[in-house]
Amino acid sequence: MTVPVVIDTDPGIDDALALILAARWPRASLRAVSVTYGNTTLDLAARNARLVLARAPAEPLVLPGWDRPLTRPLVTAKETHGAEGIGDHTGPPPDPVYPSGSALRDALRAGREPVVLVTLGPLTNLALALRLDADFVRSRVRRHVAMGGNIAAAGNTGPYSEFNVWCDPEAAREVFAAGLGTELVGLDVTRRLVIPATAVAKLATHQAEEARWLGRLLGFYVRFHEETEGLRGAVINDPLAVALALEPSWGRNEALPVAVDLSDGPERGRTTIGDADAGDPRLTVYRDFEPRRVHELLLEHLFGRWLTDADFTS
Ligand code: BDR
Ligand code: CA
Repeated sequence: MTVPVVIDTDPGIDDALALILAARWPRASLRAVSVTYGNTTLDLAARNARLVLARAPAEPLVLPGWDRPLTRPLVTAKETHGAEGIGDHTGPPPDPVYPSGSALRDALRAGREPVVLVTLGPLTNLALALRLDADFVRSRVRRHVAMGGNIAAAGNTGPYSEFNVWCDPEAAREVFAAGLGTELVGLDVTRRLVIPATAVAKLATHQAEEARWLGRLLGFYVRFHEETEGLRGAVINDPLAVALALEPSWGRNEALPVAVDLSDGPERGRTTIGDADAGDPRLTVYRDFEPRRVHELLLEHLFGRWLTDADFTS
């Protein structure tokens, strides 16, 4: 059965893989993509979304959204995703974009029917859509699966926090409280989805153009992980959110009240197990997944012409 999907994203190396996966996986019908700042600026993220989808190939509507957090200054992640957000790749100069607070609402309209909404970046666009028309958003979002947060895993932005929630904690808190039954695919699970450095090197040196493109995209991530934490591989967070959005039975989750830290210090954006009696919303939090199923999926739609299952464990 095909599932209608809308994605909100900030491409971003792992976002790029998630977009290609969603566009190629026959189980997903990718209806529209809204774009946010985050890994890079809004104009580059919108350009990257289009560049990446042209490889899929897919032509969903791409709608640039808001260009900064609700209340905090804009910070992007060049050191993690490269100067233009797509690793060692560059692209044509981005078109000017006009920030829109209604992009995600409009993407849901373009979806034409209730969809599975997958958010892969800061939650600003979704918070703005909810402020605009919460009833409409609730009526069109069958499930909301967010790459975001962490409960037991270490942070990737400061000691405690996950990047997407850290960028705009106020937006995350508003979204979590909106009654969408948000499902969090956070660092607790995504940290375990790693493409080994050896596999990335194999891609980068392959004769096929697409393999080399993927290798250059992921090569930057490999260097980042090696330099910052000595990990020999690339953690690819966002494709796991797409996988579990469409195949929730591949994961194990728990219903937990979740609190978001709104301070300015080292705990900014930290997500913790909250207190339901104090009003912290109960969310579905993924704690585990079946790596074999996800590896098979990635091989089928992204890497299978050049890698095998053994490459995930090398
Ligand atoms: C998340 O932040 C970004 O770096 C990635 O694209 C992912 O969505 C991981 O914390
Ligand atoms: Ca992302």
